[in-house]
Amino acid sequence: MSAPRWGVTGWGAALPTRVVTNADLAEKLDTSDEWVRTRTGIRERRVGGLVSELAAEAGRHALARAGCDGSDVELLILATTTPDQAVPATSSKVHHALGIAGGAYDLNAACAGFVYGLVAAAGAIATGTSSVLLVGADCLSRITDPLDRSTAVLFADGAGAILLQSSTGSREAAELDAPPGMPAGALLGTDLGVDGTAYELLGCEHGGYMTMEGSEVFRRAVRITVSSATAALARSGLKPDDVALFVPHQANLRIIEAACDRLGIGSERTAVILDRTGNTSAASIPLALAEAADAGRLSAGDYVLLSGFGAGMTWASAVLRWGSPL
Ligand code: ACO
Repeated sequence: MSAPRWGVTGWGAALPTRVVTNADLAEKLDTSDEWVRTRTGIRERRVGGLVSELAAEAGRHALARAGCDGSDVELLILATTTPDQAVPATSSKVHHALGIAGGAYDLNAACAGFVYGLVAAAGAIATGTSSVLLVGADCLSRITDPLDRSTAVLFADGAGAILLQSSTGSREAAELDAPPGMPAGALLGTDLGVDGTAYELLGCEHGGYMTMEGSEVFRRAVRITVSSATAALARSGLKPDDVALFVPHQANLRIIEAACDRLGIGSERTAVILDRTGNTSAASIPLALAEAADAGRLSAGDYVLLSGFGAGMTWASAVLRWGSPL
């Protein structure tokens, strides 16, 4: 099979330095380390900073790993649901901080935002953009009531980034080496969706705090992850056994385990980081992906299944063929 003509050439992560353990939370809330660990899988989380700061740091790491700087980037996509401010887009600040040459925009699809961004990035490359920096970053602590035990134990802050580059930057070249029956480039099957009738299940008014119908979100999350991941795999012509690494949204370990069970993907092929990060929304998938890549869990040509769900309710799954085209 020919190598893809575009791929992921760099990745990076950023977490606030302040660690908040379950025991820390139990000092102020009617909760316990045992409850949070057994119901969610979360042991501690990182809290602090702004989306612009964390996104720039993760982006800087991704660029450094690829041996690039901002002047090499033609497009920055920042997936976030907690922008620093309403106007302008937080991507403008990140664009400035990294000295990016091309365009930039924010994308809000909640916890599915990074995978939505991946589809948008692949589309940009297919139409001639040579390099896209895709960042997922959120500071959910800014919109979480610290006195609400039903949400304060779950949500936290972080950022993850990947750099996507084509070998030549031209659509013609990107299509040249596409394997028969496969789309050009590294992104194979995808599945995007939203159920707007469920938008009230999880949300935050301007200036307010997150509210969530946890158990209903839980039920839907398992169902959505399984059906969306299955659809993306089917569109890729792949089966669960072909997946080298499954990178699900990191909301609750029980959701991940139930989805893995139904998909037939074992924990040895699943990336989990939420025990140390909590739910970081758009950052959760790239954080888990970056950690797995740093740990050497990915090799060129591996099929990586990414799947996110979140407020909206949105969902997005994609199969990415890992490796650099350069
Ligand atoms: N500590 C102790 N007790 C708690 C806590 C807590 N932190 N939170 C809730 N409880 C209590 C409840 O009050 C309830 O008590 P009751 O039985 O006396 O009424 C009991 O625990 C059970 O509550 P449930 O909500 O049924 O607990 P559940 O096992 O469903 O776990 C949780 C709750 C962790 C929120 C789970 O439902 C969940 O993870 N849901 C999905 C959340 C999610 O995926 N969100 C992601 C959306 S992503 C995005 O867009 C940001």
